[in-house]
Parts: sequence; C-alpha cells; structure tokens
Amino acid sequence: MIKVGVIGLGAIGQRLIKGFEDHPETEIAAICDSMESRAKDTAAELGGTPFFTDHQAMLDQAELDLVYVAVPPKFHHQVASDVLSKGIHILCEKPLANSVEEAESLLKQAEEAGVIHAMNFPLNYSAGSKSFEKLIKENYVGELRRIQLKMHFPQWPRPWQQNAWVASKEQGGYVLEVGVHFIQQLQKIFGAVKVKDVHLQFPEDSQASENAILAILQLEDGTPVLIDGMSQVAGKEEIAFTAFGDEGTLSLLNWAQLEGGKVGEEVQPLEADTSLTDSLIENLVKAIKGEPAVIIDFKAGYEAQIVLEQLRKG
Ligand SMILES: NC(=O)c1ccc[n+]([C@@H]2O[C@H](COP(=O)([O-])OP(=O)(O)OC[C@H]3O[C@@H](n4cnc5c(N)ncnc54)[C@H](O)[C@@H]3O)[C@@H](O)[C@H]2O)c1
Repeated sequence: MIKVGVIGLGAIGQRLIKGFEDHPETEIAAICDSMESRAKDTAAELGGTPFFTDHQAMLDQAELDLVYVAVPPKFHHQVASDVLSKGIHILCEKPLANSVEEAESLLKQAEEAGVIHAMNFPLNYSAGSKSFEKLIKENYVGELRRIQLKMHFPQWPRPWQQNAWVASKEQGGYVLEVGVHFIQQLQKIFGAVKVKDVHLQFPEDSQASENAILAILQLEDGTPVLIDGMSQVAGKEEIAFTAFGDEGTLSLLNWAQLEGGKVGEEVQPLEADTSLTDSLIENLVKAIKGEPAVIIDFKAGYEAQIVLEQLRKG
C-alpha cells in the first residue's frame, strides 16, 4: 500500500483525497492544513487519519511514500522543497511555483532527490484533451495556421472558487490559474513556444489580478499563438483552445468538449474517444512501482512556468 500525505485540504486537495481513497493501492496516511478546523474535520471524515497544521511536523512524524502538495501557489516552493528534502515522492499542484527561480530550484532539487516528481495537469489524462491531441497528430487541421486560447469569464474569481489568493495579482488570476494548463498542453502538443508580445489590463485595485490579457506567442515554425483573456464580461464562461489549419479547425471547449470542422464545412461537436481516458493516480502508482507511466514531471512544470511568468509580467 502506498502511504499518501496531503498538504492543503481546500477545493482541489479534497478532490484528490477521494481519488487516493478509491484506489486499491493507495491510502491517505496523514493530512495537513494550516487551518486547524479544516484539518480536524477532514481527519474525522476519513475516520481518524492523523492530522497536522504544520507540514514539517507531518513530514517528520508520519511514514509516507508520496506527498501531494495542494496549497496556494506562493507556498508551493517552501512546502515542496521540504518534501523533497525528505526524499519522498511528490505530486505538486500547478503552477509548479510562483516564479521561474522557484520553479528552477524545485526542478533541480527533485532531480537530485531521485524521486518521482509529478504535476497535477489533469488535461493529460482526460478524453477530450487527449482526443484533441490525437486528432492534431493525425493531421485533422492540416498545415497549422494559428492557435488561439480564449479565456472569457463573466466573473473572476469564479463563483465556486472564491478565495482571496485566486483574486490576487501576487499568486492568482486566470492566466496563472487556467492559462498554465493550456501553456503546458501547447508545449506538449506543439513544441517550444516563445512569448512575443503581451498586453495586460488590471482593475483599479492594485492588488487584484488581471482583468484582460492579449498576447501573441510563436511556435518554433513561426505559427502564431493568440491569447485572448477577459474577465468581468457579459455572457457565459468560455475557455476555447483552438487550432486553425489550412484543412480544418479543431477546438477543445470548456476543458472537455471537442468541436471541429473541415474548411468549407460547418464546425460541429465531435465525439471524444473515451477509451483514451486515463488516471493520474493510477499512473503515479505505476511510476512508484517502477512501471512505465504517464507523468507530467517538474521539467514540464518548469517549462510552463517560464512562459507563464512572461505572460503575468507583461
Ligand atoms: N490541477 C487543477 O485542476 C487545479 C484546480 C484548482 C486548483 N489548483 C491548484 O491547487 C492549489 C490549491 O488550490 P485550491 O483551490 O484547493 O485552494 P484553497 O484555498 O481552496 O485550498 C488551499 C488550502 O491550503 C491551506 N494552506 C495554505 N497554506 C498552507 C500551508 N503552508 N500549509 C498547509 N496548508 C496550507 C489553506 O488553509 C487551504 O485549506 C493551487 O496551487 C491551485 O492553483 C489546481
């Protein structure tokens, strides 16, 4: 049984706890949150799992094989570094850290520690995004002309994620929170990308995250990548990752739905290939057992961070 420790028991921490609980080869052996009531309540829900309010105490006292770091981004570096110092396998939330320097130092430390170092980028395991990648590789769009990432939010932070940090320029905003998923996909599917031009807009509150971004990036072959982000706009939330080619157009809409069409035809919903659905936790288990596994590692997290920071800084 793989003993898992979880640091950060908020929205996403709770989601993965269920996944670890459900997998026959993993068990939650210790949990930690700086908010004592949250740690206590979660421990009770889990039937008396040892809980901590200080991650170092958990790392010192609990016997763990894997630690999942699900604290807000500005704490990733300190917490992940302490996990790696113990030589424990690690799963870290995205983005890897809160600056390129922090991400680089975590990558170096993880490689030196010789442990499994994984990131939670769920698009790498879901049917819609894997079908998008498969269709691109099968040349559905033909010669690539442009990639576009549209992120429009009626409200930021979104109603289900009303945390102060998500709304802050310091460690939040949708370029960081949502955009980094697609930066990682862009790099994985289409290769290296350079940031050419960034225009950010901010609300009056100087501590608040961006309310608009317009950016142009470029793939190695010169293909332009347009990022169009806006919050506090009318209408529905829309996150569209689209590849335009000389033969067709293909989009991944709102994380999961596929839409596409050939030039001269209508764009229509496409069925995702559900046989491509994979599981992060199953792949972590395989990696820890030394078996071949799909792991998005800290190198990928570091590379995404380099682009992310250029976009955040404008
Ligand atoms: N991979 C995804 O799809 C996805 C989705 C949402 C959020 N996230 C990422 O997950 C992380 C957490 O996001 P969230 O929405 O769950 O945030 P959250 O604010 O709901 O939860 C974070 C928790 O961490 C605790 N915490 C803060 N500092 C701590 C510390 N030093 N030690 C222990 N506990 C600490 C807080 O008390 C809180 O309970 C962020 O990095 C976010 O970007 C990833």
